[in-house]
Amino acid sequence: PSLPQLRRRLLAWYGRHHRQLPWRPTPQSQIPNSKSEIRTANPYHVLVSEAMLQQTQVATVIPYFDRFVEQFPTVHDLAAADEQQVLRLWQGLGYYRRARHLHAAARVIVDHHAGRVPDTLDELLALPGIGRYTGGAIASIAFGRRAPILDGNVARVLARLFAIDEPTDQPATRDRLWQLAEQVLPRKAVGDFNQAMMELGALVCTPRQPACLVCPLQTLCLAQLAGRQAELPRRSIR
Ligand code: ADE
Ligand code: SF4
Repeated sequence: PSLPQLRRRLLAWYGRHHRQLPWRPTPQSQIPNSKSEIRTANPYHVLVSEAMLQQTQVATVIPYFDRFVEQFPTVHDLAAADEQQVLRLWQGLGYYRRARHLHAAARVIVDHHAGRVPDTLDELLALPGIGRYTGGAIASIAFGRRAPILDGNVARVLARLFAIDEPTDQPATRDRLWQLAEQVLPRKAVGDFNQAMMELGALVCTPRQPACLVCPLQTLCLAQLAGRQAELPRRSIR
């Protein structure tokens, strides 16, 4: 598919159809004519939200996120908190390692980065609990860095757009998907683009019965053009 068209259509769709989430900045495509309040990315909010979103759905995360940043409004407040306080606010989200890592990351940010969330992928990857996905999400959403992301939603969308037949749970296919995730990135509005890929996977290009008829990418999508969207992505037969 044509990458310039793909980028343009996906960003235009995201501007119209994105969900407003407490940590999400206003899409750049909405800013020139926005009548409502324009929100810029708060890197600490992006860090907290991405830690929570690693294993948990958006709708579940929202109230936890709101309570968390109310209790710990800045990375300094989080770094100074005691662990029990942090874990109590995480109660119900599960995967408590994420909370411990986030707490540890806040301390590293205060001790070694003067209390500012680092703005390069390499520095982000050096923080506790931050892997390729989360690092890319923070670098792109909070700082506009041209860093790819690949989560379950993005992998499914890419496998369909490019009609990838190889099982997406195989390491070689993951490598190829990471490469594609990088190639499709625009030069501007990278954070919007990455969130738009996740949003399309969550709202339109769903695991079962994707809504291709209302998809902004339907005329570009190799799976849809071949009528194979229900077959993809494939998983290994075990
Ligand atoms: N899942 C993980 N990060 C997300 C984000 N920023 N927006 C929507 N879903 C997500
Ligand atoms: Fe997914 Fe269908 Fe859109 Fe292709 S056309 S990206 S399969 S929703």
